[in-house]
Amino acid sequence: MSDVDSLITRLRDLETEALAAVDAAHASDALETVRIEYLGRKEGRISGVLRGLGALGPEERPRVGQEANRVKAALEERLAVAEATLAAAEEAQGAPDLTLPSRMPRLGGIHPVSRAMDEIWSIFRTMGFTRARGPEAETEWYNFEALNTPLDHPAADEQDTLYLEGGGLLRSHTSPVQIRTMLAHEPPIRILAPGWVHRRDTYDATHTPTFLQIEGLVVDEGVTFVDFKATLAEFARRYWGEGTRIRLRPSFFPFTEPSAEVDVKRVVDAPEGPVETDWLEIMGAGMVDPNVLEAAEIDPDRYSGFAFGMGPARIAMLKYGVTDLRTFFESDVRFLSQFGGGR
Ligand code: DAH
Repeated sequence: MSDVDSLITRLRDLETEALAAVDAAHASDALETVRIEYLGRKEGRISGVLRGLGALGPEERPRVGQEANRVKAALEERLAVAEATLAAAEEAQGAPDLTLPSRMPRLGGIHPVSRAMDEIWSIFRTMGFTRARGPEAETEWYNFEALNTPLDHPAADEQDTLYLEGGGLLRSHTSPVQIRTMLAHEPPIRILAPGWVHRRDTYDATHTPTFLQIEGLVVDEGVTFVDFKATLAEFARRYWGEGTRIRLRPSFFPFTEPSAEVDVKRVVDAPEGPVETDWLEIMGAGMVDPNVLEAAEIDPDRYSGFAFGMGPARIAMLKYGVTDLRTFFESDVRFLSQFGGGR
């Protein structure tokens, strides 16, 4: 074998070996090692073969040179393909798998007490009521005295009320919003005042120390007990359904005279047909006491009115058959998702 042929054979053997080494490498540093071993300028094995060119005649050198270039190009190309394949595989590992089944969206739901608030509000709104608000930190005067409740009255007892440093208190009901509204606006007044109230109560199935109330107040010339009863009866029918009846039981509140507890009797569907429920108490109410009008600088000889206060959580309990008030506060989705939302 001539020297040329033996050099060419060595180049081809190197080519076979190098391509196999590329195929066996599965990381970019392994590919780099192959590159240096075969293609390195000084120490590379192809360069090593070409050192034998010096022993050849000038007319023989180009054949070997050409073969060396072909082998180098083939190896470069195989290395480039291997590097690209490796990069694509690495990228795909971090990328999302678009063939996975999609997750169902979780739908939020309106909290049952918020829903009761919204429904109550939307009924009174169509009857011409507007919304009013007042502060949760109140004074004794707004919370009690202006509402015809002397501070030595049991309702004003420190037992029930959370006092703040400096003489203020957390309002124990939304009724002070009546006073604030009447002081700020001339009649006619028709407001609904929702908000949080606070009492020193235990946390049990029927009490929570903090709860929502909705206050209603109507003051105008010539407002009578008929307007009072008709308004509440209409509310009850719209909220609980056409067949619903209301009953007023005589009661006492310092800020109304006469005062009443309002009960509803609903008609519910049963397997044997529609049946009436027991009477359920839904709110306290009454005709605004003239002393309250006077405290709020409204002339009781010219104006009269009625007021009512209810707890939307209690209303929601009655509407949805919930027996423990605390479930409304515990944010357990198994409970809440029964009222809509969830999957
Ligand atoms: N403020 C009363 C309470 O918290 C509820 C109430 C009763 C409000 C009668 C009224 C009303 O406006 O007329 O127990």
